Amino acid sequence: MKTLFTLGLALLLAAPTMAQDIKLPAPQKTGGMPLMAALSARQTNREFSAKALDSQALSNLLWAAWGFNRADRRTAPSAMNKQEYLVYVTLPTGAYLYNAKDNVLKQVVNKDIRALAGKQDFVATAPLNLVYAYDKTLMGDPKLAYVDCGFISQNVYLYCASAGLNTVVRAYVDIEELSKALGLDSSKEVVLSQTVGYPKK
Ligand SMILES: Cc1cc2nc3c(=O)[nH]c(=O)nc-3n(C[C@H](O)[C@H](O)[C@H](O)COP(=O)(O)O)c2cc1C
Repeated sequence: MKTLFTLGLALLLAAPTMAQDIKLPAPQKTGGMPLMAALSARQTNREFSAKALDSQALSNLLWAAWGFNRADRRTAPSAMNKQEYLVYVTLPTGAYLYNAKDNVLKQVVNKDIRALAGKQDFVATAPLNLVYAYDKTLMGDPKLAYVDCGFISQNVYLYCASAGLNTVVRAYVDIEELSKALGLDSSKEVVLSQTVGYPKK
């Protein structure tokens, strides 16, 4: 009885942090392909194996995309250092917001919404899609925000080239539907989505 009570209490106390958030391992910031080799390999691919990325690869990918490489600055530049981007990840288990400071994926949707991350067939079955949305309260000039998005996407392209992953950045997305599914209000704008996964064998 006492054991059951202790177990119940432990579960209760753990509940707020459990919320299916994903704690990522620290990103590996060394190694990978030499830059010129990664640039030579960078390309768009639209065929993906369903194989999931392990948490280390996911952590490395997100750090490359939009992690902190200095105390308060990121791997991608942003106009006036506004750092206005929110990077979401859609996985089979749900959708998550990347918290780069804590290296955590904060769950925002607890079901598979991969199919809403784009209008092409592979989007629903590839292991993950990144969704790039910016906070209009941080960046008032959409043109600058769109430019900033390109840097994040290119970081992902280069990481994927280095790690042997396929990727495609995509504008062919139902922005309204995806924003709704992610619970975004009108202060956030989804700009692009990017599918990532292992090549199809
Ligand atoms: C802003 C932008 C939007 C894109 N949107 C799509 C898209 O919706 N679907 C798609 O399959 N590819 C999309 N692409 C990928 C391009 O088609 C691809 O980059 C182009 O064909 C050049 O191929 P490469 O990346 O291998 O050099 C997009 C690329 C960019 C830069």
